[in-house]
Amino acid sequence: MQVISEILPLREIRREWQLAGKVIAFVPTMGNLHQGHLLLVEKAREIADIVVVSIFVNPMQFGANEDLEAYPRTMQQDCAALEALGVDLVFTPKTSDIYPRGLEQQTFVEVPGISYMICGASRPGHFRGVATIVCKLFNMVQPNHAFFGQKDFQQLQVIKTMVTDLSMNLEIHGVETARDTDGLALSSRNGYLSAEQRKLAPNLYRVMTEIADHIELGRRDFSRLIQIYSEELNSLGFKTDYIDIRCAETLLPPGHEDDNLVILIAAFLGKTRLIDNVCVSLQSD
Ligand code: PAF
Repeated sequence: MQVISEILPLREIRREWQLAGKVIAFVPTMGNLHQGHLLLVEKAREIADIVVVSIFVNPMQFGANEDLEAYPRTMQQDCAALEALGVDLVFTPKTSDIYPRGLEQQTFVEVPGISYMICGASRPGHFRGVATIVCKLFNMVQPNHAFFGQKDFQQLQVIKTMVTDLSMNLEIHGVETARDTDGLALSSRNGYLSAEQRKLAPNLYRVMTEIADHIELGRRDFSRLIQIYSEELNSLGFKTDYIDIRCAETLLPPGHEDDNLVILIAAFLGKTRLIDNVCVSLQSD
């Protein structure tokens, strides 16, 4: 497994792969890898000759009040896990190479509409940072396929929209959320939870599955469901940022004709903001 930090040698290797007709799959990450990331790598491995993983903690997607410095960096551990899965190349660029003119001067990619709602409303500028870094990484790695977790449902939709809008020549794959045995979605942020908070955290998944059951049984009073379950989470010790029920394709409030819905949730336990989602299909087989 090669570990490369510079952009030029990456481009040279990329050219050799292209000349040899290799299919390249790419998994962008910010490191501190868990089983969820490793599942993305396994899925990438299934369809490609070459698997590239990037590890880059992207300052552009952190808000002013979000602690970029505290984000866990576990490069050695991450590389060992990736090597064991047969990854071909790990790209670990430096911030000064990614943003040589600084963040203020950086040209950015903004996917309007979808970037401003739900998580985007709580974290202004976040999806601009995500779209910009993912676009830059795609330009550097030039993959045929890229893999993202469905846990970050809105991020996945933002990236798919960017790829369509900018006519990018690659296929985006969303991979099902990896969960602990108690239902908690795997996330680097789970590491910030105290033992007590960790015990409470699976309530997020429970609440979403209960809402999904209600919807499947025919309930359409979404605002009431959201209110009941937000209050329940708050009474358990969460600070609910939002519970939302949206059309899974557009992320807009669902209309009568929408059969594929998604329940999205974001809630704080102490300072840790957890997100998760569950899809509900109203189509009868
Ligand atoms: O999901 C993440 O880890 C990040 O948002 C991504 C896609 C690697 C961009 O920095």
